[in-house]
Amino acid sequence: MSMIKIQGLAKTYRTDQGYVTAVQELDLEIERGIFSTLLGPSGCGKTTTLRCIAGLETPDSGEIFIDGEIMVSTAKGVFVPPHKRNVGMVFQSYAIWPHMNVYENVAFPLKQGKRKLSKAQINEKVTKALVLVRLGGLERRPATQLSGGQQQRLALARALVKEPKVLLLDEPLSNLDAKLREEMRIEIKDLVRRLDITTFYVTHDQIEALAMSDVLNIMNNGKLIQTDSPKEVYLRPRNKFVASFIGASNQFQGVVGARPRIGEDSAEIRTELGSISCRSPGGVSLSGNVVVNIRPEDIRLFRERPPYHENVLQGRVAVTLFLGDTIDCRVLVKNTPVHVKRDRSQEFAEGDEVFVYLSPDLCLLIPLD
Ligand SMILES: Nc1ncnc2c1ncn2[C@@H]1O[C@H](COP(=O)(O)OP(=O)(O)OP(=O)(O)O)[C@@H](O)[C@H]1O
Ligand SMILES: [Mg+2]
Repeated sequence: MSMIKIQGLAKTYRTDQGYVTAVQELDLEIERGIFSTLLGPSGCGKTTTLRCIAGLETPDSGEIFIDGEIMVSTAKGVFVPPHKRNVGMVFQSYAIWPHMNVYENVAFPLKQGKRKLSKAQINEKVTKALVLVRLGGLERRPATQLSGGQQQRLALARALVKEPKVLLLDEPLSNLDAKLREEMRIEIKDLVRRLDITTFYVTHDQIEALAMSDVLNIMNNGKLIQTDSPKEVYLRPRNKFVASFIGASNQFQGVVGARPRIGEDSAEIRTELGSISCRSPGGVSLSGNVVVNIRPEDIRLFRERPPYHENVLQGRVAVTLFLGDTIDCRVLVKNTPVHVKRDRSQEFAEGDEVFVYLSPDLCLLIPLD
């Protein structure tokens, strides 16, 4: 049984300027113990979805189950209040209480609700949570006198202190600088693995999402577009939006030329670069307008014409950027810029005449929607 199950979730806000549809007909399931991420551009409905799970928002329609128990059902008139939902949440802005010290911040959720814990029980739970996030010893420090990373960990401790079944994290690393963010990624990933807690993580940072998740849910305009493993989303993006949102992509628009032979997954696409052979269409209906998608790191450059009988294009290096581990180039092919990422040992200079090779196996066909 899945730990979180969402069916037909919809939420529209009413504002002075009219209605804003934040989430539409969203179905989503998260298996027990999985690190699942909701990824999408700003304003696509991520926070709204998370707040509906936590019970901080009432959906217009839909049902939400946590560990098989119904939390919300608009049809059945069910709404379980937030403190009875067994979830811990870290908010986009950490929302730690500035007038409390570290200890009081973490103890706060334990003092909510009817079931009163003894002082000793509270002490034990708070201490355990603080040790977990490596804040042991800072109990008496005012919360405002913590660094950004420490505040982030304090928010985590507060979310975990009641040992919830589900951890909801809304962009928990967005306020940290790049270096700290990378460290905290590993720390959070390690922490949730040790606790074996089902985690639903919201971010608009695609690298973070790729690096941390077992499952990626891509969202746009209030709708779920694709749910897959990070690798599958990267290698087999379902549509043009996913392909360009996750990682860098070259996208060449074209029309299907020769129909593929029966039993062979290949097609000729007429594009602005010329004719491109593609394989692995993966269920794409091969007619009409399509996009040929290829990642910059999958394109190869040669000084001499390579011995392939298809997809070799002649071009000129227009721009090269040295990025340390790689070199980023723009190669002009018939005036169309092609984004290529190469190993830094391959030295090409601006103005060099080159041959660009697009391996047909790495050209993904995507329908235009
Ligand atoms: N309380 C509210 N009242 C009116 N509109 C709202 C409210 N909260 C969110 N919205 C709107 O709903 C849409 C989805 O908002 P949401 O906060 O869920 O997006 P998000 O994906 O979390 O974005 P971000 O990455 O910027 O945090 C946006 O258009 C937003 O302006
Ligand atoms: Mg948000």
